[in-house]
Amino acid sequence: MDDGHWNAQLDNLRIDAARLRESIEVSADIGATENNGVQRCAATDEDKRMRDVLAKWLGELECELRIDEMGNMFAIRPGRNRKLGAVMAGSHLDTQRPGGRFDGILGVLGALEVMRSINDAGIELERDFVVVNWTNEEGGWFAPACMGSGVWAGSIAKEWAYERKDRDGKTVFGRELARIGYMGDFPCDHGKWNIEAAYELHIEQGPILWKVKKQIGAPEGIVCLHWYDVYLEGTANQVGPTPMEGRNDALLAFSEMCQTVNKVAHQMGDMVATVGEIQNYPNSRNIIPCRVYFTVDIRSWNDSHALRAWRLMRREFEIVAERRGCRIRSEEFWKVKRASFDKRLVELVLESAEELGISNLRMVSGAGHDMSEISKVARGAMIFVPSIDGRSHVEAENTAWDDCARGANVLLRCILKTSRQKSRS
Ligand code: GLV
Ligand code: MN
Ligand code: MN
Repeated sequence: MDDGHWNAQLDNLRIDAARLRESIEVSADIGATENNGVQRCAATDEDKRMRDVLAKWLGELECELRIDEMGNMFAIRPGRNRKLGAVMAGSHLDTQRPGGRFDGILGVLGALEVMRSINDAGIELERDFVVVNWTNEEGGWFAPACMGSGVWAGSIAKEWAYERKDRDGKTVFGRELARIGYMGDFPCDHGKWNIEAAYELHIEQGPILWKVKKQIGAPEGIVCLHWYDVYLEGTANQVGPTPMEGRNDALLAFSEMCQTVNKVAHQMGDMVATVGEIQNYPNSRNIIPCRVYFTVDIRSWNDSHALRAWRLMRREFEIVAERRGCRIRSEEFWKVKRASFDKRLVELVLESAEELGISNLRMVSGAGHDMSEISKVARGAMIFVPSIDGRSHVEAENTAWDDCARGANVLLRCILKTSRQKSRS
């Protein structure tokens, strides 16, 4: 990387670790759960409260706040040369149901802290600096995940996203986004932006950094993510008089399919596969279950490997369904191909960590992120910090405050270096 006019002020600049912690703690109170987690799904009242706080914080900085048609929030701090591509950093403020205090949140509030620190130091960057909060990364209440960044990158149609139903099937995403006042009018379209580089600071959400005791991870990309929906139909009946032979028990058929998902993932290797959601009807202790809906999530570094696994699972599902006298229907709900990050930006993350004396590791992301979408249309990279005990998507999700600060300092350095770089090469 060409460092442009790198100087001692930039070299010594650090974020305010206490202020970053304070912001994360304020966020943790919005949608706080009993066990120290957060439940703040996109387009809910909690999401609105958090967005309002972010907007207030951004209003205190020298930046323009732009909200697009998907509710993605962009804070733009003008650079010296507005013709140059911008540097972008952010993640998401929505959580799982329930989720933790750091997933996504560190990426948005870490980027905010970077902007605050650059402001405090009175530094004029060469390029615009954009802090972004992507809408509905989790898909916890309105599936799929990465909705805001997906529409922005052109992988999801906006109207289709607006029509997604909540998990209770009572309302649709577009209506709720408008209700909370965050359906903006700026086009949700990456084509309206000139982005030189995009970064996402995030907790690892897995055990690698924690196990090998490294402080920063630089993923080279994100595994592919395939989501399938499966619907089974059997026959309901009174459990007492109905003999065991000849039943069409949809839940029993499901239990074999659940084993199949696990078995195929083990047999094929280099992948993970999970049944995470199941709905059983009528879900009564004295009625034979007649309908089951379940999800399959498959992830691998190799897209065709994941696809082969799904084909194998589906074939076995059909055999089980036939034997159990159940009808089966399955469909692909969502598919994100493996994302490969920009090699030079990945190097810059590693190099920045090294220069700050922070131990680091080149790795791969097993979790999906907004960067899966962003990196399809812009040069992107991520900065990982360790998840204590490798736990995430749970209330107990935790990351040491020092690690949060290290991650934000690496992000700061990447932003400073990228925005002072005079030209693309
Ligand atoms: C995103 O949160 C994922 O499911 O990896
Ligand atoms: Mn996340
Ligand atoms: Mn998540």
